[in-house]
Amino acid sequence: MQGNPIRHLMNPLDFTVEELDRLFDLAGDIEKNPDKYRKACEGKKLATCFYEPSTRTRLSFEAAMINLGGEVLGFSEASSSSASKGESVSDTIRVISCYADICAMRHPKEGAAYVAASKSLIPVINAGDGGHQHPTQTLTDLLTIRSLKGSLSNFTIGLCGDLKFGRTVHSLINALTRYDNVRFVFISPEELRVPDYITDMLRNKGIAYEEVISLEDVIDKLDILYMTRVQRERFFNEEDYVRLKDFYILTKSKMDKASSDMLILHPLPRVNEISVEIDEDPRAAYFKQAQYGVYVRMALILTLLGISVD
Ligand code: CP
Repeated sequence: MQGNPIRHLMNPLDFTVEELDRLFDLAGDIEKNPDKYRKACEGKKLATCFYEPSTRTRLSFEAAMINLGGEVLGFSEASSSSASKGESVSDTIRVISCYADICAMRHPKEGAAYVAASKSLIPVINAGDGGHQHPTQTLTDLLTIRSLKGSLSNFTIGLCGDLKFGRTVHSLINALTRYDNVRFVFISPEELRVPDYITDMLRNKGIAYEEVISLEDVIDKLDILYMTRVQRERFFNEEDYVRLKDFYILTKSKMDKASSDMLILHPLPRVNEISVEIDEDPRAAYFKQAQYGVYVRMALILTLLGISVD
């Protein structure tokens, strides 16, 4: 007799739009009724296997499992795991499958989470693989937009900064193409333009996008501004990073040109690209976004473990 197949999350498109709606409804219920879920994962363990630094993703996963009454184990850097002795991701996940019920994995190599999922006996969640995908950040971004704007359709979103290496941007664009009337404005220096495979995909789907260098020229027409940092860790040389790192800095004077209800999002961490004076602006939603990340990861853990709470 065959059991239920193990379900993983590698890419935001692994869930249909209807499944995402259910996930976001669940996250909304968790936000409103946290006590209802306090024991939902009693006796379950989450492994966080992070081969790359993280604050939000790892800790929000751990907070999510603890909020559900489960427990957490794991490592936060490759050097404190047996990867430093040459162990493969495939072997590591087979072993973790003996210790935990579900695993969130971040790895600097594109595709590492896919390799893990192919060998795993438990659900694997891609918590970021190189410059490729960061699906749980995308779920966080979508939940934030849905909660604060009321819908995932009919808006203009400006994505600004490092659109070449920023995996959160690649994941989010992919996910938003499934909703109606989402218009994209890509704001980046020439060297950090969104990759061709993404613009090719948009053209093939007949989705409109614009590429510009100046944030000031377009900020007044945006409903959402998604800022990103320049990804130092993915640059080949420090000189290029230093030249580009402060290309965009969102300041009060730039925000004066934006609409009164434009939402400012940022996956964080921030370096210099949003001036701290903006934090007090009611349009700044990036810390709320981090909070939504806990609700959506709680909903995701329940969904992948097949646990429902009445
Ligand atoms: N947004 C995000 O992935 O943050 P961390 O790198 O701190 O996990």
